[in-house]
Amino acid sequence: RSEESQIVLEAHQWLAKLYHHLLRNSKEGKEAFQYLLDRGFSEETIKKYQIGFSPNSKDFVVTFLEKKGFHPQTMVKAGLLSTNDQGDYADRFRGRVIFPLRNHLGKTVAFAGRALGKQEPKYLNSPETELFQKGKLLYNFDLARSAIRKQKRVILFEGYVDVISADQAGVHNAVGTMGTSISSTQANLLKRYVDQVIICYDGDKPGVEAAAKAGQLMKETGCQTFVARIPDGLDPDDFIQKHGGDRFQKEVIDTSETYMTFLMSFLKRDYNLQIEGDRIAYIEKVLQEVAKLDRAVEREHYLNEIAKEFEMSLDTLKEEVQSIQRVSP
Ligand code: UTP
Ligand code: MN
Ligand code: MN
Ligand code: MN
Ligand code: MN
Repeated sequence: RSEESQIVLEAHQWLAKLYHHLLRNSKEGKEAFQYLLDRGFSEETIKKYQIGFSPNSKDFVVTFLEKKGFHPQTMVKAGLLSTNDQGDYADRFRGRVIFPLRNHLGKTVAFAGRALGKQEPKYLNSPETELFQKGKLLYNFDLARSAIRKQKRVILFEGYVDVISADQAGVHNAVGTMGTSISSTQANLLKRYVDQVIICYDGDKPGVEAAAKAGQLMKETGCQTFVARIPDGLDPDDFIQKHGGDRFQKEVIDTSETYMTFLMSFLKRDYNLQIEGDRIAYIEKVLQEVAKLDRAVEREHYLNEIAKEFEMSLDTLKEEVQSIQRVSP
């Protein structure tokens, strides 16, 4: 680690402490604190995740960091301050609920600031820096690691709040991919710890699309991959707040489908199965996917499903899969 990285880590640590302190003890932080309580976070959870509040000020953090002896230019590079052409420095996060983003060693390397109201963006994240690359960090991996290792299973969420809410509800093997679907770096990292992954993204359209992508990547690593379905377009945190942790475990996690079953219904959206040509195209598409499966038992299982659904013979489907495999093994 370079000396500058060390300094940047220190600045993050100081600032996380300050934000957390302001949330819990300042007059300005009261609204944000109440916001978190209203969203169902306990004080214990707020402490555990060191959630904070950045005051709505142009230079509160500028002054704080200066007093601690940090060079403002370094802090700009670290994504903690912003600057303009005149060379004035200003606070980057203002009037937001702050979630520290920790790396796998538990060190805070970035922040995400959530708007208290409808301001855009909803989450303002630190920019990519030497210490923080979105595609390499899995949110909460440091705290979840032992549960992940023990269970040999990980649950993937989109959002910071989903991860925290799940943890609070007793689901401790949870990490977040921060909105975007998982990268291959993240997928390969997880593969070293688990046999099974459950993708539990939001129940809305972008969430389902991201789940299809994440499922593909996790499947390619050789993990047994499942996709949880959340009803009514809710996200995991919405579901937990509305129905509780027990129902989340039983109705969402325990009933997650295999990636292939999820994919078969996901692909249907592109076809009108009332139309003969579409039906055939859809079956072809699904067989392409089945042909990629490594295990014969798995392949036969899905071919049986397709045979039943479309009243076809298993032999025909098997033959087709074999010919696909001959072309692209
Ligand atoms: P969502 O829009 O699903 O937000 O984005 P959320 O996690 O449910 O948050 P709440 O419940 O409204 O507070 C999922 C994730 O995408 C990233 C964040 O990591 C967020 O947790 N995201 C979203 C951003 O980085 N910026 C944004 O403006 C929005
Ligand atoms: Mn517990
Ligand atoms: Mn979402
Ligand atoms: Mn969401
Ligand atoms: Mn949400």
